[in-house]
Amino acid sequence: MSLVAEIAALKAERKAIILAHNYTVGEVQDIADFTGDSLELSRKAAECHAPVIVFCGVRFMAETAKILSPEAIVLHPAPDAGCPMADMADPADVRAWRDAHPGALIVAYVNTTAATKTAVDICCTSGNAERVIASIPPDREIMFLPDANLGANISKKLGRKMHLWPGCCPTHNAIAPERIAAARAAHPGAVVIIHPECPPATVDAADEALSTGGMLKFARESKATSFIVATEEGILHRLRKENPDKEFYPLAPSPRCPNMKKLSLENIRDSLRDLSPQVELDAETIRLARAPIDRMLAL
Ligand code: 13P
Ligand code: SF4
Repeated sequence: MSLVAEIAALKAERKAIILAHNYTVGEVQDIADFTGDSLELSRKAAECHAPVIVFCGVRFMAETAKILSPEAIVLHPAPDAGCPMADMADPADVRAWRDAHPGALIVAYVNTTAATKTAVDICCTSGNAERVIASIPPDREIMFLPDANLGANISKKLGRKMHLWPGCCPTHNAIAPERIAAARAAHPGAVVIIHPECPPATVDAADEALSTGGMLKFARESKATSFIVATEEGILHRLRKENPDKEFYPLAPSPRCPNMKKLSLENIRDSLRDLSPQVELDAETIRLARAPIDRMLAL
């Protein structure tokens, strides 16, 4: 039996749903029931009511699925697939900042650990960060964590001052503005879509800053037929599959998140067969971490 057939049989037996992030490898995206960005995947995890969720993404995303569907068995087939940015905001450091700034509001990018989410007020993703910040009264002091690039990009766009935690995504932070200029020279006339985890100077050199889900929507609806894609290369799979008549060019070299690539058909099959490794969070962490996620989803 092929791996794909084995996964399909185990999935039916376990009544499982497979959720995958847009950065996973194409063959993983192709066997998923739903592929999306962090916000879309959170919404799906909250509403799916499946007894088993196989989460194909990095650890904080699998934790978010467990927080939103605590009754479900949440499998994370590659338990060492973390997000280095999420590990840059330690919960004890966040609490220390909060204690030193009474009255301030802490906005946490969803790329944070469950433990850190217990210390914050509201979450956001790259798909709704502007909406979340715009909902906060103008006189309220804000700490945005852990992505200083995303924070700076929103701060500039909304003209809103915020304290920025000194964290970043190593994959996106390495994309310098010169790479956008080089891609434009190689593909004249192509529209440059970029992820807002890139440094502000790089975002300024691009045309549209969008979440991965936003990129898919933009490419689908745009009259343009060629695009330079300034984000992790996994997104190219869906962009090309869903828009066969359009051209999508990665940057050179192509940005890669090594952790997203740890999800494979083999470890998905093994996790469904063994019902392991599962995301385990204690009830108090789930209760406290759920509050800022629910505030975000309610907006
Ligand atoms: P999206 O929410 O845009 O998919 O981004 C998640 C992420 O980790 C980007 O690096
Ligand atoms: Fe984390 Fe960056 Fe990978 Fe996204 S691309 S999961 S922010 S390391």
